[in-house]
Amino acid sequence: MTTPDLFGDLDPGRRTRLGPDAWVLRGFALPRMDALLPALAGIEAISPFRHMKTPGGFVMSAALSNCGALGWTSDRRGYRYSPIDPESGLPWPPIPEAFARLAREAAAAAGFEDFAPDACLINRYLPGARMSLHQDRNERDFGAPIVSVSLGMSAVFLFGGPARSDKAVRVPLHHGDVAVWGGTDRLRYHGILPLGERPHPLLGARRINLTFRKAG
Ligand code: SIN
Ligand code: FE2
Repeated sequence: MTTPDLFGDLDPGRRTRLGPDAWVLRGFALPRMDALLPALAGIEAISPFRHMKTPGGFVMSAALSNCGALGWTSDRRGYRYSPIDPESGLPWPPIPEAFARLAREAAAAAGFEDFAPDACLINRYLPGARMSLHQDRNERDFGAPIVSVSLGMSAVFLFGGPARSDKAVRVPLHHGDVAVWGGTDRLRYHGILPLGERPHPLLGARRINLTFRKAG
């Protein structure tokens, strides 16, 4: 696999258009790290990352946690949103204000005003972990966009079409990049290629993805 611009494309403040209603906002989250990283550590302390099983019985290679009124979960019975962390039996931690502001402002910068997510899925990828092509379609209505924040190691995002078999473009995502897709692009297939080995100077050998959604 060749990804020539994976580590060379670090110019913040630029936007990459992925579709009529889909953008990558380069470096959008970078000025906010001092608030984002401690908030993330606080969530991890309450609802630690764990590997969930797919309905088909496979263990997902990315470990996950959630914050917000609703958290995305998977087990042998299916995918669903739940207000309760199944490991602790307690509600997921609330969405920190710094997360909510980032999600709202990134959505607005991509043309979606007044985004008020009630769910934030947090994925943790270690080297080799991946996310196979899927649609985000467990949410009640598809009127709100998806706002997806990349932290730590760089990764290659696959952004496909409305059908699984549609050709996907490969988009490098770096620390601080925010991808936003909604409107006519809301149900496009997407995924993450297996994570490489090069550690991030600040976060070490991991990539964290925050995916904000209006789920309920
Ligand atoms: C996801 O689609 O759930 C995760 C995407 C990413 O890790 O960037
Ligand atoms: Fe997704």
